[in-house]
Amino acid sequence: MSAQREILLVSGPNLDLLGERDPRHYGTATLDEIVERTRRRAAAAGLAVRHVQSNAESVLIEAVHEARQTAAALIINAGALTHSSWALHDALEAFAGVKVEVHLSNPAAREGFRHVSTLAGVVNGTVAGFGPLGYDLAVDAVVALLGAPGMPAA
Ligand code: DQA
Repeated sequence: MSAQREILLVSGPNLDLLGERDPRHYGTATLDEIVERTRRRAAAAGLAVRHVQSNAESVLIEAVHEARQTAAALIINAGALTHSSWALHDALEAFAGVKVEVHLSNPAAREGFRHVSTLAGVVNGTVAGFGPLGYDLAVDAVVALLGAPGMPAA
């Protein structure tokens, strides 16, 4: 698969617990189900998805670095690192492809510490509050942006 046809899907801390964790905010779908759904949506547009989940910030940063050579786009739900990680912000800034931030819940409608995203300023856009549907919307945004290089860049 060429870099032009690959999306790196990044899942941050605690997303491995989806399905059991706080279903009021995150629903009942497991991470595997969400990844599968994302793969299906991307495949319909001829794109492959590589997925990395880690509870360690450094692993996510390394994956973003590697994607500089291997992926055309990146979809990221960084979990709580969204609200604290300037290191992930800098790694994303160094990735030149399309970048979409996703959240299952709507952080803006929750506790104050979730209202800040360190990543929001270095992605093309954010999808939040739509549960697993947000991943389909993120793929659709990637497809649109890859097909429309004139769209505003991050
Ligand atoms: C989350 C929102 C974050 O605030 C939280 O820390 C998560 C999940 C979401 O998908 O809604 O772990 O990114």
